[in-house]
Amino acid sequence: MRYALRRLGLNAGLAHRIGGSGTAYGPGLGPGDVPESDAVVEILASAEPALLVGGFAVGKVPWRTGGTVRAADLRALPDDAEATGLDTFLTVLGHVGFAAWTGLVTVGAVRAGESVFVSGAAGGVGSRAVQFARARGARVVGSAGSAGSAGSAEKVALLTGTLGADAAFDHRAGEATELLRAAAPDGVDLCVDNVGGAQLEAPIEALRFRGRAVLCGAASRYGRERVRGPANYLRMIYQELTLRGFTVTEHEESRPAFEAEVGGWVREGRVRSLHTRLDGFGTVPEAFAGLLAGRHTGRTLVAVEGSR
Ligand SMILES: NC(=O)c1ccc[n+]([C@@H]2O[C@H](COP(=O)([O-])OP(=O)(O)OC[C@H]3O[C@@H](n4cnc5c(N)ncnc54)[C@H](OP(=O)(O)O)[C@@H]3O)[C@@H](O)[C@H]2O)c1
Repeated sequence: MRYALRRLGLNAGLAHRIGGSGTAYGPGLGPGDVPESDAVVEILASAEPALLVGGFAVGKVPWRTGGTVRAADLRALPDDAEATGLDTFLTVLGHVGFAAWTGLVTVGAVRAGESVFVSGAAGGVGSRAVQFARARGARVVGSAGSAGSAGSAEKVALLTGTLGADAAFDHRAGEATELLRAAAPDGVDLCVDNVGGAQLEAPIEALRFRGRAVLCGAASRYGRERVRGPANYLRMIYQELTLRGFTVTEHEESRPAFEAEVGGWVREGRVRSLHTRLDGFGTVPEAFAGLLAGRHTGRTLVAVEGSR
């Protein structure tokens, strides 16, 4: 399978592997090695019926303008990918977007008019979950925070401004249960939790009768030797609550429905991709340096047009 690179997505985690040992995300990188990233490519030559010449696909490829790759390492994009916007397949229609949609729609069964709480709402999954819940007609409260108070204010403003949340709070500003109660005084029907700990106990306290909490991640618990469940789990009994986890890779059959719904929202302008894009393959070093320096909003992408 021969391809031309069209969009390259950059990840800050790669910096940990340069000149060092490998991590869970790949081997260490030394002089002469070529890093790899997830990318949108255009198919130039193909013997695979699902990957048509002239069509687009996503996969992990080296930082080169093109090359060959095994068909099994690519996933074909819908026919209308270019009209939807190639950038979006590395952001809102990419892995974290699919995780947010799966948690909210497939697992959480969100309904219009419901009140939804999203923790880690300025993060990769959370920022998509907030937008998708709004697009489905729910009222949304998000939590965000940051070590620096200036960063926290920016993140909270992003939630109610750019992302359209109805209310938001800085989880470092006080006790999470009190902050959520103030932001959602009538309670919450559904929670999408990316953080765990106090930010999961808060919605368990706030969930209405038969409310649901979807466990997507537990960013505050990773790396701990001993992880305990929520201290207030007895409320699940009295309020008939459901806590349900999921792993997005087990939901691949829903991807066409996800791409159809979210692609529609993107085309209607109801959902935003949130990325910083630099143009031309020659901008890759500048783009990577800008990402590491924290100069970019959303995901950092490099566009390579007409690279056949
Ligand atoms: N279930 C699945 O299939 C699936 C798929 C993809 C991702 N995930 C999980 O979903 C979660 C979100 O993923 P993501 O890509 O959105 O990650 P992310 O962009 O790093 O967002 C995670 C957020 O958690 C918040 N957080 C709050 N307290 C924290 C603490 N003590 N330590 C670290 N972070 C803390 C941070 O937001 P503030 O700084 O604003 O507090 C951070 O932005 C992760 O746990 C990830 O492992 C699960």
